[in-house]
Amino acid sequence: MPAKKDAIKFFLNCEGKTFVLDTYTHEYRNLMMLIYDKVYLENFGECKGTGRCGTCHILIVDYDGELLTREGNENTTFSKMPFVKSNSRLACQMMVDEKLNGLTIEVIHDNDSVY
Ligand code: FES
Repeated sequence: MPAKKDAIKFFLNCEGKTFVLDTYTHEYRNLMMLIYDKVYLENFGECKGTGRCGTCHILIVDYDGELLTREGNENTTFSKMPFVKSNSRLACQMMVDEKLNGLTIEVIHDNDSVY
């Protein structure tokens, strides 16, 4: 059982539904793996976290903080994709930690990858 200080709760908007997801720090390798496990989405996370397929595209809703700093291959991958916004991230490049607590995440699930 995780310590109470590690508890994380956030909201996930996906295909017209809102899910309330509970987790704890580092329960999953990254946010993509958490979403893949808790909300089954076909074709989500195709490259398994290398940051190259773009199928784990998410938006961080109403947020203007450090989680908007892209890492790894994100900018290169986004340069090949439509519908990219300033609050777009690849879920596979985001850690599961306390910074997610209270956020609303929206999955941009258009089944298009950059392959
Ligand atoms: S799983 Fe492929 S870019 Fe995130």
